[in-house]
Amino acid sequence: MAAAATVALFSALGCRQDMHDQPKFFPERGTSFYADGRSVRPQVENTVARNQLREDSYFYTGFSGGKEGDGMPFPVTLDVLARGQERFNVYCTPCHSRVGNGVGMIVQRGYAQAGNFHTARLETAPLGHFFNVISNGYGAMPDYSAQVAPADRWAIVAYIKALQLSQHATQADVPAGAHVEPLSSIAEQEGLPATFANEWVLPPTAVTGTPDNQPFILPAPGSGTAGKGTPGQTQPSPAAPPASAATAGPTAVKK
Ligand code: HEC
Repeated sequence: MAAAATVALFSALGCRQDMHDQPKFFPERGTSFYADGRSVRPQVENTVARNQLREDSYFYTGFSGGKEGDGMPFPVTLDVLARGQERFNVYCTPCHSRVGNGVGMIVQRGYAQAGNFHTARLETAPLGHFFNVISNGYGAMPDYSAQVAPADRWAIVAYIKALQLSQHATQADVPAGAHVEPLSSIAEQEGLPATFANEWVLPPTAVTGTPDNQPFILPAPGSGTAGKGTPGQTQPSPAAPPASAATAGPTAVKK
């Protein structure tokens, strides 16, 4: 009897939908509540949200005094190098290859030649330059700031330095007990041909990236003119060796 009365009461009043129709904003949806019509509010000026205090600007930018700095913001340990190697292999090798000669798989299939880390210019480039390139991109290279957190960027930078050193290591560079040996003899010990460690050339199947083999020039944002280093623009003709592939030098091995 009471139940029937309750049902009758609700039907008379009409069901209330408050729990269903909550006064909330859906992401990115507009509103007439705020004068600017945005439901997503900008950060309040002169405030710092949690985890956004970036006091150590060198750690976050790689710049010091307006110039790319040359130093690590934290000590390099074997763990840091291992992390850098792992992140490098995930995010950089598709274009730069595992040895950093700039002839990764994507480049072999037509992407613009990626930077070769074993050139005199990049061997002497300050560490902040590498951090800056990962954070902001460089020419045809997109930035990796969303994928790679600042600490990991520095770990990658440290690993690139180790890769560079590995190409010219002398006995004096390695600790007592380790010895330096050319890659070709390491290849032979592994049962591979000595030429395994030679310079890489782009295979004839590498294409210029367009169906008709014509260079594809992306307009630079806003300018309407060709951008620097766009995909396909810097391709050598098929079968021609890349301008600056890494040379197979001696490498350090721990024995
Ligand atoms: C999608 C391909 C691609 C990926 C992935 C990529 N790069 Fe590059 N990178 C390039 C290209 C292409 C260039 C040459 C750009 C130019 O000269 O216009 C380049 C150039 C560079 C240079 C040389 C800059 C200079 O001063 O000449 C560095 C250093 C570099 N990349 C680091 C990295 C690191 C570190 C990663 C991984 C976090 C990475 N790249 C991932 C394509 C890539």
